[in-house]
Amino acid sequence: MSSPTQIKSDSTLQEVQTFLEDYGQRTLLRFTTVGSVDDGKSTLIGRLLHDSKSIFEDQIATLKGESKQNLSDEQIDFSLLTDGLKAEREQGITIDVAYRYFSTPKRNFIIADTPGHEQYTRNMATGASTANLAIILIDARHGVIEQTQRHSFIASLLGIPRLLICVNKMDLVNYSEDVFDNIREQYTNFATKLGIVDLKFIPISALKGDNVVEQSENMTWYHGEPVMEYLEDVYIGSDRNLVDFRFPVQSVIRPDHTFRGFAGQLASGRIRVGEEVMVLPSMRRSKIKEIHQFDKTIEQAFASQSVTITLEDEVDISRGDMLVRPRNVPHSENHFESMIVWMSEVPMDPSKTYVIKQTSRQTKANVLDVRYQVDVNSLSRNKVDHLNLNEIGRVAFRTNLPLFFDPYKLNRMTGSFIMIDPLSNNTVAAGMIIDRVPTERLREESDVALKNRNIHRHEGSVTQVEREAKLNQKGVTLWFTGLSGSGKSTIAGALERRLFDLDKNVYRLDGDNVRAGLCGDLGFSRYDRKENIRRVAEVASLFNSQGTIILASLISPYQEERDSAKEIVGEERFVEVYVKAPLETCEQRDPKGLYKKARAGEIQNFTGVSDAYEEPTDARIVLDTEKLSVDECVDQLLDLIDELS
Ligand code: ADX
Repeated sequence: MSSPTQIKSDSTLQEVQTFLEDYGQRTLLRFTTVGSVDDGKSTLIGRLLHDSKSIFEDQIATLKGESKQNLSDEQIDFSLLTDGLKAEREQGITIDVAYRYFSTPKRNFIIADTPGHEQYTRNMATGASTANLAIILIDARHGVIEQTQRHSFIASLLGIPRLLICVNKMDLVNYSEDVFDNIREQYTNFATKLGIVDLKFIPISALKGDNVVEQSENMTWYHGEPVMEYLEDVYIGSDRNLVDFRFPVQSVIRPDHTFRGFAGQLASGRIRVGEEVMVLPSMRRSKIKEIHQFDKTIEQAFASQSVTITLEDEVDISRGDMLVRPRNVPHSENHFESMIVWMSEVPMDPSKTYVIKQTSRQTKANVLDVRYQVDVNSLSRNKVDHLNLNEIGRVAFRTNLPLFFDPYKLNRMTGSFIMIDPLSNNTVAAGMIIDRVPTERLREESDVALKNRNIHRHEGSVTQVEREAKLNQKGVTLWFTGLSGSGKSTIAGALERRLFDLDKNVYRLDGDNVRAGLCGDLGFSRYDRKENIRRVAEVASLFNSQGTIILASLISPYQEERDSAKEIVGEERFVEVYVKAPLETCEQRDPKGLYKKARAGEIQNFTGVSDAYEEPTDARIVLDTEKLSVDECVDQLLDLIDELS
């Protein structure tokens, strides 16, 4: 093999990827290059490849030697190193992305090289989907041009974590430091608008070799490292999401009745034998029995390994299901908003039903609304009703089946999808999910409208201090948070009785009760819960200013919302009470039979089962209801209220 390999087709050499990732403990850096041919992109790539070629060949030799399958040159297919594109290729889209592979003693590299011609958007969107870094080439003679801005916008949209800006052709501007400084300033101003923070600038001449592999002698004013050194050393350790375990099931493997395995690729996170997992959408739980990788079993698997998992229990699982951890679940929604890149010559038809493919899941989808189209040159938003080739816009969708997703900015694997035209079977768009549901946006707008109305507060003639003095108490809010069944309402109810008997003015705001009236229009999406909590906090604040003690018992599963409740009520009056009980205990208690329903799939987004609960980290008081009786809890709270008064 004497030249870099270009991808031709898919095959099944999974070993190659694993081998390369493990080989010599080297890390793998995926990067993409953007810019037009004129900018000197191919020259730069050629030089990087050329100067590392010997190692490249060495490695191929080892690779062939080690592989059990006795590969010949022709058989080595590097498409496996570029997992991001399988779905598109299955759908027959032609993408002008060439993948090249090279290696240095420090690192392995994969370059997704996208041509800079007309179809830039589509090609770049696909080539960059898994990149750790993008190299943006700027011609020193021309500076930051429209195309540079366009490419940078797409890079930021795709969430590429860092950009390396190579100011090329420095030889044609007399290696001028001023020219370089001006371009850097100009670009930095623009990039700030896009929110790109990790920027690196290197002045180079790809043709002459200045600052590519060797430090340039023509630009002694530049004290940074050359391109190759930067690529070798840049820290990418935090790029991989190793926290959120997501295992989309690709296929169920049943060679005989004794073995039933679930094959797929870890989209993110890690998992060990013995750990508990939950299956979406059925919400059944089991434990990992074995993890198979090729013909051996392993103890632990990481993103982005491909493995086959077996479970301790007989659980019904099919392609498109997802294994997750019970306490760290993705969104499961039929509605979502996303940024999409339209890739088809045929414009979007919002009245049509498309198919969305996301991880291993596939479902029919309708466009609910095209919010806007972004003019990538000016970054302005245009109101449109559909998108055309290469256009980028924000679109709200409704799908037939729920998707299990994370916002793209948190998880590039579970946050991305492709859209297919079911008639032609062509991929028509690539999308990145935003952490919002469409209804939320409507509400957001009405919130803004409310804020903008001419509202002026009236101070009354009776002050809060006077009211509190009259009642001989301080108006405070005890905010009980905890899982359903943890004992919030029971404790709040008992405390209310005791306070009332002590002649205190007290009122209880209970999640179930407020949801019957004040919050009767709300469900259990993140937004609805947030709104539920906001309303209750506002009511609590009114009661408090009248001197009443409020006992608010709401699951309030997220810290952010509990914090905003604190802000509404006022820090000095707000007490966070964490009513703590393990999920298993709450589930056993199941006072309303809701856990059972949630497990049966009859209730969606149920806290603890199919929706998250973030434990409070600095609650004023933690009541462990497995250990304490109701009376003991109440006593502790009475002491606390005394302290506050
Ligand atoms: S919160 O998350 O918005 O704070 P809240 O405490 O008001 O929740 O309401 C929770 C109550 O609604 C539970 O006690 C339960 O009776 C009921 N409920 C119905 N569906 C759900 C669900 N999906 N998740 C949690 N609680 C639910």
